[in-house]
Amino acid sequence: MADINYSDLIPNNVDLDSDRRLKRALEAWHPKFMHWWKTYGPDQYQDKEVYLRTATSVDKDGWAQFGHVKMPDYRWGIFLAENNAENKTINFGDHKGQPVWQDVPGEYRGPLRRLIVTQGDTEPASVEQQRILAATAPSLYDMRNLFQVNVEEARHLWAMVYLLMAHFGRDGREEAEELLERRSGDPDKPRILGAFNERTPDWLSFYMFTYFTDRDGKYQLASLAESAFDPLARTCQFMLTEEAHHMYVGETGVARVIQRACDIMREHKTDDVRKFGGIDLPTIQKYVNFHFSVSEDLFGAEQSTNAANYFTQGLKGRYMESHIKDDHQLKDDPYTVTECVDGAIRETEVAALTAINERLRDDYITDCQRGVDRWNRVIREAGIDFEITLPHRAFHRQIGQFSAVKVSPEGRLLDAATWAAREHEWLPGETDHEYVRSLMHQVTAPGEFAPWIAPPRIGINNQPREFPYVKL
Ligand SMILES: [Fe+2]
Ligand SMILES: [Fe+2]
Repeated sequence: MADINYSDLIPNNVDLDSDRRLKRALEAWHPKFMHWWKTYGPDQYQDKEVYLRTATSVDKDGWAQFGHVKMPDYRWGIFLAENNAENKTINFGDHKGQPVWQDVPGEYRGPLRRLIVTQGDTEPASVEQQRILAATAPSLYDMRNLFQVNVEEARHLWAMVYLLMAHFGRDGREEAEELLERRSGDPDKPRILGAFNERTPDWLSFYMFTYFTDRDGKYQLASLAESAFDPLARTCQFMLTEEAHHMYVGETGVARVIQRACDIMREHKTDDVRKFGGIDLPTIQKYVNFHFSVSEDLFGAEQSTNAANYFTQGLKGRYMESHIKDDHQLKDDPYTVTECVDGAIRETEVAALTAINERLRDDYITDCQRGVDRWNRVIREAGIDFEITLPHRAFHRQIGQFSAVKVSPEGRLLDAATWAAREHEWLPGETDHEYVRSLMHQVTAPGEFAPWIAPPRIGINNQPREFPYVKL
């Protein structure tokens, strides 16, 4: 694959020059995007040079190039993973074995458009949610990571807008406009999904968001990467390579906060971490409970005919579809889901086809646990007796059948009064937020870090910690 031409206004590997109409539509959208980026993207710092990586090709190795750029000069482009499989066929559903589609089949226009718009809406939403964080960045290293995540989420918006404009005509162009008009947390024109209307008020929330909520993105993208609609599949395959870094920022960010808490506990032989300006492990646990549960909601209801239809129609597969050993059509396969039946939480068997969402949530939970295990290793290695746990899947849910009940983190059903009395033990309350907020002070000396977080083990692209990741 040839390198991508970065002198183009819209760098791409989709041969945009061959489609004048599409190119014009995207060029007309470009200034609107820039207006959105400058108004609702990172607050301030737009004229500062940031050490960003940019995609320069879609090769598996070496697609990224690092260098200092001002964010508005970042080259948001359109990159699809290479189409190297000859005679690619559909992996699952009713059309299994048929050739993949390069165009949208008329009968699936509606649902495909909905899937692309829903994914596309999350991308600018997270940028809006995070726009004020740089003002309290714990280091230049972290500020740079925030900006890297932000420019890449904005690129993911481009990726979805390309699909809308290239394949959905006038409807697609209108959707592209609306993606810039909805606003995270706006009561009149909110973003589509709940978690993307929550605020990201502090850096602990940011790390939790990139660990738990970006990981939902990974699972949604991975299922769309199986789609019979090949341009969508290849777009998502490339987005996944960028997404991995977002989750890395989250996992290592939380790990560093934990590390710092443990260092304080050992150094001062105390559990009162707050007294020494750290974030205590019980508070971290509450943030985990919150962000994990709101991110679980993003997978939708446990049983869903929409999800079943998407699967049968070949629009959205399962995680690692081709690695699953079954008929990939789920005509009469069972799947075990956790349900609330007659006032008790128990496992029941349902038709696998209706449980597509739940299966994806199961894959997600398993993946979340891996990072939690690594966090616990940090705590264990410090010789501290504490374990971070993921709450039960029924805890604090707003979507699906558990939204109707109150459940403890261990999975016990509670009456409303017990929940109300104990909620503050499990979820961050105003005093927790206030405390965490009180720690948020910007640190900008190269190589220095705020006292509530440990430095990273390694820098970005093997640069040292004191590297000027952002030139202020
Ligand atoms: Fe994204
Ligand atoms: Fe992301």
